[in-house]
Amino acid sequence: MAFRSGRGIMVVMRYRTLGRTGWQVGEIGYGAWGIGGKQWRGGADDESVRALRRAIELGLNFIDTALAYGDGHSEQLVGEVVRQAGVEVYIATKAPPKNQLWPARPGIGIQEVFPYPYVMECTEKSLRNLGVEVIDLQQFHVWNPEWISSDEWRRAIEDLKSSGKVRAVGISINDHDPDSALEVIETGLIDTVQVIYNIFDQSPEKNLFPLCQKRNIGVIARVPLDEGALTGAITEETVFEPGEFRAFYFRGDRKRQVAERVEALKRDLAGVPGTLAEIALQFCLSHPAVSTVIPGMRKVRNVESSISVSDRGALAPEILERLRKHAWNKNFYA
Ligand SMILES: NC(=O)c1ccc[n+]([C@@H]2O[C@H](COP(=O)([O-])OP(=O)(O)OC[C@H]3O[C@@H](n4cnc5c(N)ncnc54)[C@H](OP(=O)(O)O)[C@@H]3O)[C@@H](O)[C@H]2O)c1
Repeated sequence: MAFRSGRGIMVVMRYRTLGRTGWQVGEIGYGAWGIGGKQWRGGADDESVRALRRAIELGLNFIDTALAYGDGHSEQLVGEVVRQAGVEVYIATKAPPKNQLWPARPGIGIQEVFPYPYVMECTEKSLRNLGVEVIDLQQFHVWNPEWISSDEWRRAIEDLKSSGKVRAVGISINDHDPDSALEVIETGLIDTVQVIYNIFDQSPEKNLFPLCQKRNIGVIARVPLDEGALTGAITEETVFEPGEFRAFYFRGDRKRQVAERVEALKRDLAGVPGTLAEIALQFCLSHPAVSTVIPGMRKVRNVESSISVSDRGALAPEILERLRKHAWNKNFYA
């Protein structure tokens, strides 16, 4: 699909198959955490709605939201915009852990996190917030491999699908722990995984991506810009509102660490066309296992910039090789 962006540039969205769902989804999808507003501050609903509308106008047809994002606010905005757009858009949402603990903790049983009736109840709430009859993709917002033999989640998946309330089911994998989903993929019961994948965290390439390719599992690459670090906008002077998620994520001397890493990255990328954020998205799309990349984008200019990446193709092998050494083993969520 080709469109002229606000800057007069032709923007072409390309589509990939979301694993065994067979859906053709835009390479750039929409991460709707930020527009929920509660955990991400500094945005405004009217601006978010403009950004989301522009994204759909530019051919974006996959949106990732969650019941927990702004306690349903993100789902409500997404539902409103999609209904008004009148075109087919795939909506993915997530059932939050009942114990409100992200990520899943070892030793805590599924009864405390995703009991069957609770998953059903969350799905009903999401259907109401979104204002739709069926959810395209329902995801478990955390996952613990210790639950593998439990009947609870298997029954929930079967019944959600057979009742026609959900078309496909996926797992949102715990932060920086891609291998924790290998076993659940092997059960053949899930259709997609959502995983952190970016220049800093390249770990899904080792085991998760090959298995997803083998089993035809859709891969949703989340946090492609490392919560903004890979846009180059985080400096030691950056101030976040107290209480905002990123004030926690970039706490202590982490802003300095990020700025140093980003400077080194920029030096290595000199001469590569595009902004740092665009190259970071292109990095994710360079892996064939990735079905869609879902940056959070509350501004029209970021939507246009991100979607412009889709037509660029993969980064050259030599550049990908250069990016290997920028992998950074950290966990700022902890
Ligand atoms: N556990 C989970 O399941 C989980 C956890 C985290 C995230 N997610 C999903 O993954 C999505 C993406 O992660 P995220 O939103 O947390 O972080 P992210 O996508 O890594 O980074 C978002 C930041 O990048 C900026 N940005 C986006 N496109 C840009 C561009 N082209 N140029 C410059 N800056 C750009 C955004 O600015 P503006 O917003 O100001 O436009 C925002 O500040 C979420 O929205 C959510 O759907 C899931």
